[in-house]
Amino acid sequence: MYNAEAYSARSATSGLASTTVARRDANEHDVQIEILFCGICHSDLHQVRDEWKSVMPTVYPCVPGHEIVGRVSKTGSAVAKFKPGDLASVGCLVDSDGTCPECQAGLQQFCPNATLTYNAPDKHLGGVTYGGYSDSIVVDERFVLHVPSNLNPAGAAPLLCAGITTYSPMRHWGVGKGKKAGVVGLGGLGHMGVKFAHALGAHVVVFTTSPGKKEDALRLGADEVAISRNADEMQKHAGSFDFILDAVSAEHDIDAYIQLLRRDGNITLVGAPEKPLSIPVFGLIMKRRSLSGSPIGGIPETQEMLNFCGTHNITADVEVIPIQKVNEAYERLVKADVKYRFSIDMASLKSE
Ligand SMILES: NC(=O)c1ccc[n+]([C@@H]2O[C@H](COP(=O)([O-])OP(=O)(O)OC[C@H]3O[C@@H](n4cnc5c(N)ncnc54)[C@H](OP(=O)(O)O)[C@@H]3O)[C@@H](O)[C@H]2O)c1
Ligand SMILES: [Zn+2]
Ligand SMILES: [Zn+2]
Repeated sequence: MYNAEAYSARSATSGLASTTVARRDANEHDVQIEILFCGICHSDLHQVRDEWKSVMPTVYPCVPGHEIVGRVSKTGSAVAKFKPGDLASVGCLVDSDGTCPECQAGLQQFCPNATLTYNAPDKHLGGVTYGGYSDSIVVDERFVLHVPSNLNPAGAAPLLCAGITTYSPMRHWGVGKGKKAGVVGLGGLGHMGVKFAHALGAHVVVFTTSPGKKEDALRLGADEVAISRNADEMQKHAGSFDFILDAVSAEHDIDAYIQLLRRDGNITLVGAPEKPLSIPVFGLIMKRRSLSGSPIGGIPETQEMLNFCGTHNITADVEVIPIQKVNEAYERLVKADVKYRFSIDMASLKSE
């Protein structure tokens, strides 16, 4: 075991502060990574503030962070995929049983015994897992991914959650040429959704509550932008979408989007607000529309997404911050005031 520098929350209201956490020494299948950048996902904020207490109560201290890019510093004797010096990345999962039907299908996100990168029981050290707001992490090589060398590491970090969470449902629901796709909420997830839907060849419409994001939405790849609080702008799209990705982090009216789907259209929720959403069923019944959810993605699809980003030169638009600004960044995230993902420069942890 060794001590890693990290930032943790002591309680739902404490904010984050400097600490050290125990990490295991790399065993034969492990990769030890010196973390260069870690994105700030809105899920980190939900978890740190215990907003998901009914489904995933937070165990304190909590070290969040599941958008990790770094350099391999050590490898176990049986590790074949990585060597010291390689650029490597870790997302929301660090382990699974490897034997269940979901794992066999490469869909580790559905494994009943999957281990999340933070706030999940740690099989090796006891207690819970600690995430990427840290100078290093030790992960089984099966859950470590390659980052294409043409991608900027600060902008690549958010691909590990915001990227795969938007890419996976778009691939599942066949977003592509000849399809009309909507993206609701231009935040960390939403802006990646726009880039992917555009790169996949769909006609992309962004729905935002922030009129100031209109120009950006077009620059990011949207063909049209609607201000969701303007009823006329919404009405214009009634009954026309094949697919809508809802990436909103707070309570909102989802029926307004169900009404925009065509027959057999699908709306997928990836946003995970604290409170339940109300869904009038007639909107679904009348046009056989469907509503679904989607969690992150499996390991093979995450690597496929990273490779797709390498080919299409896609990274997140990031504001790089030192870790000392993390509490301020959380306040801004709640106000949807980031363009479009914070990426923590972990070199700043060395000055603690
Ligand atoms: N399913 C999964 O596996 C998964 C993975 C990662 C994250 N998530 C969840 O996805 C959600 C989004 O995460 P994120 O990191 O992208 O968050 P984010 O960067 O904060 O973006 C959320 C966006 O939602 C919109 N929004 C915020 N408050 C709103 C309100 N009251 N009404 C309507 N729109 C509002 C804003 O977009 P506009 O300014 O454009 O309106 C905001 O930028 C979070 O709940 C997160 O926990 C789920
Ligand atoms: Zn996330
Ligand atoms: Zn499994």
